[in-house]
Amino acid sequence: MAKVTVKDLDVKGKHVIVRVDFNVPHKNGVITDDNRVRAALPTINYLTENGAKVLLLSHLGKVKTEEDKAKNDMSIVADCLASLQSAPVKFVNATRGEELEAAVKAQEDGSIVLMQNTRYEKGESKNDPDLGNYWASLGDLFVEDAFGSVHRAHASTVGIASHLPSGLGFLVDKEVTVLGKALNDPERPLVAILGGAKVSDKIAVIENLLKIADKVLIGGGMSYTFSAAMGGKIGTSLLEADKIDLAKKFIEEGGDKLVLPIDTVIANDFSNPTEIKTVDAGEIPDGFMGLDIGPKTVELFKKQLEGAKTVFWNGPMGVFEDPRFAKGTIEICKSLAELEGATTIIGGGDSASAAKNLGFAEKFSHISTGGGASLEYMEGKELPGITIIPEK
Ligand code: 3PG
Repeated sequence: MAKVTVKDLDVKGKHVIVRVDFNVPHKNGVITDDNRVRAALPTINYLTENGAKVLLLSHLGKVKTEEDKAKNDMSIVADCLASLQSAPVKFVNATRGEELEAAVKAQEDGSIVLMQNTRYEKGESKNDPDLGNYWASLGDLFVEDAFGSVHRAHASTVGIASHLPSGLGFLVDKEVTVLGKALNDPERPLVAILGGAKVSDKIAVIENLLKIADKVLIGGGMSYTFSAAMGGKIGTSLLEADKIDLAKKFIEEGGDKLVLPIDTVIANDFSNPTEIKTVDAGEIPDGFMGLDIGPKTVELFKKQLEGAKTVFWNGPMGVFEDPRFAKGTIEICKSLAELEGATTIIGGGDSASAAKNLGFAEKFSHISTGGGASLEYMEGKELPGITIIPEK
């Protein structure tokens, strides 16, 4: 059954609270990437064009101290939002109280109020029931459009929705449709490419994708724990000794489905390497560490991708921030971008940044806006911010 969406709600003249993900990267008060604001526009524009009074709620950064508060002031998003669409935007420097209530009350149809950072409230991350209830009292309807936050059971993502008629916004609806198809009814072959530093971050997703995908290709720092599990020499490469048995289990259960690197780019030092070379996997000499997949692995992975109809990629193949160890990630990104006739999905985070920075963003079918959320979705976990939205 499909979930209620914003299109199913009668929004004209109503106060509509929208949980957006405006957790944008920023430095010295300047937004360095406004993609998340742009990604929220379809829902915001639909609501303002259809005569809703829109109240936007989002977190920005992690807020634990007063210093964090000053650093993560939501006011930086207000100008950006105003410049990207035509409805009037009023920023309210409060998360509760008279000023906020008055601003909402005074709203005309088609106008926007942007509230201060939800994480200024201690109760937000604890899903404090009073806070959820209070925020809900400011609106008639609730729209969930913060895909990056739907894996969090917070007052703004779950609490409000339990008090108001609610629906998904366009952004979350699209994420759920694309990721849901890849997970539940993929066009096959489905190939998953998983990278990143730690096996421990990816256990659940490897486990689930080994059940669902036709191939699971593993690269990145975590591949050295797999290599160690096969009795390979990994030098000073990243190793999670307590995950060796788990890696063995994945290798046994995965059989041909699990594809590991066959060569690796190594260096004698991480930050100041003076010797860089490529060796076969499991043959890393003492004093060297693996920092990227090698060219034979790139070819092997490309071969596995031939004919794929659905590809899900999460996590870089090496230390791609350093150009000397970025080649594996770049090559995989390129071959995915060039793959014909396949649905190619990037699951947020570092791989999404890599695709964007390399100029391939347009070439993918879907780049998820949620790193943690898309990973949890592909793990087969329930996402509380989606579960709380009723079925049609
Ligand atoms: C993200 O950036 O992935 C989301 O905005 C969630 O942020 P959080 O990890 O601070 O909850």
